[in-house]
Amino acid sequence: MGVIRLGYVHIRVTDIEEAKRHYTQTVGFRLVKDDGKTVYLKGWDEWDHHSVVLEEGGVGVIKLGYKVNRAEDIEDIERKSQTFGVTTERMSKGENTDTSDGLRIILPTSHVVEVYHDMTLLGSDVGAINPDVFPRDLIGIGAPRIDHALLGGDNIATTEKFFTEVFDFYQVERLVPDLDHMDTPLASWLAGGNRGHDVALIQGDGYDGKLHHFAFHLQDWNDILHAGQIMAMDDVPIELGPSQHGITRGRTIYYFDPAGNRNEVFADGYVAQRDRPTTIWTADKLAKGIDYVTRNLSETFATALT
Ligand SMILES: [Fe+2]
Repeated sequence: MGVIRLGYVHIRVTDIEEAKRHYTQTVGFRLVKDDGKTVYLKGWDEWDHHSVVLEEGGVGVIKLGYKVNRAEDIEDIERKSQTFGVTTERMSKGENTDTSDGLRIILPTSHVVEVYHDMTLLGSDVGAINPDVFPRDLIGIGAPRIDHALLGGDNIATTEKFFTEVFDFYQVERLVPDLDHMDTPLASWLAGGNRGHDVALIQGDGYDGKLHHFAFHLQDWNDILHAGQIMAMDDVPIELGPSQHGITRGRTIYYFDPAGNRNEVFADGYVAQRDRPTTIWTADKLAKGIDYVTRNLSETFATALT
């Protein structure tokens, strides 16, 4: 087994104090390290040192980290990346705080993705011995962990292929123009394990290097509504939901952090299996795929990338 999961998302925010307040008090992530301009956070049910990094200075994604199972997986991914033809460089231990050595890859969509095999173990907030089911001091939404990211690209077909050939992800769902153009992805959902997706891609002019959103995992529909209630209390701008996706069947709210980065709270969805046939969505049904209940898509959904 190679890539285990999306391990960290490193984003830019315009005002670090405002962002810190939002991600700790509204989302309920724990502050792990704060060096003034960069802040490291983790969810209560995550055990590694951090999963969200906020850096002051603008908006958008700086890089994503994917954790692999063993140190040898780095060499394997390096070899496959070079065969595939993407730019890579080795990164050394400590280049990212509390993170092992690894490999930095520039995707065809120009996003920076880092693979690493180890991170300082802090443990989850409930521990690993006779744990309670949640910590009693949850704040706001109390999100337990991050889930996935949706990246933009001017031409996502090659990056889709990268994730299947180099990361050994499999294609879960795909949006195509129509049934006569099944091999032309407009959007793509890919998984390595049994989550509905570990990464997704969306195509559009000028989308290279941009982030559509990254998501926090929640347990179920009740937690999604609770998240919406907290967002109302904290005046968080909501773009969509609470609703359900047709695509992945996840329950969802899309909203924006104070800097304008889109986030999602995502719950449920089906268990994905490696041998499943790819689910196809045609472009005329996109609104139903994204917001199954209302079948409406706001104009910002496909245009607001950071
Ligand atoms: Fe999502």
